[in-house]
Amino acid sequence: MYAPSSKVWSAVAIRPVLRMGDPRLWERARDVVDFDTPALRGLLSDMEDTMRHFEGVGLAAPQIGVGLRVVIFGFEASKRYPDAESVPRTVLINPTLTALSEETQEGWEGCLSVPGLRGVVSRWQQLRYQGFDQFGRPIDRTVNGFHARVVQHECDHLDGVLYPMRMTDFRRFGFTDVLFPQLDSNAE
Ligand code: NI
Repeated sequence: MYAPSSKVWSAVAIRPVLRMGDPRLWERARDVVDFDTPALRGLLSDMEDTMRHFEGVGLAAPQIGVGLRVVIFGFEASKRYPDAESVPRTVLINPTLTALSEETQEGWEGCLSVPGLRGVVSRWQQLRYQGFDQFGRPIDRTVNGFHARVVQHECDHLDGVLYPMRMTDFRRFGFTDVLFPQLDSNAE
């Protein structure tokens, strides 16, 4: 009889993503106190599975109804953002963001909690972010461009902010398939 390795099968757990209008998305998330716990591992595993399933470039714990200051992001290539440079896969917990200059940059954003839509948002161009990984090891990076944009977008979720709340020009807000008909039809 074929004996499988001792590796435990873990089921893929795709969690429903809360959509704009759900009051849980407006709450301020709480700091993580205990690192490297089974509960935190389970949360991160669910977040990874959910982000991959919906082809997101980032996901914040409140988007799956967990009010903790945990975000994940990163990709090699994205169907949702085919022109974006890659961003290293990152688990970022209890983050602190510091703008490194006054310079801002406009760019298109979407959100798994605002499906089917895109809008232009102004973000800090140069950013330092600090926080912890899942083991409680410190993270301290200085980034710019799309990487900086993704971090600002995801960390906004921890303070109950969705990207439309940052918009100033609603003529540059619309349905993805109307704005970008050339994008993969599965990409929102
Ligand atoms: Ni989002």
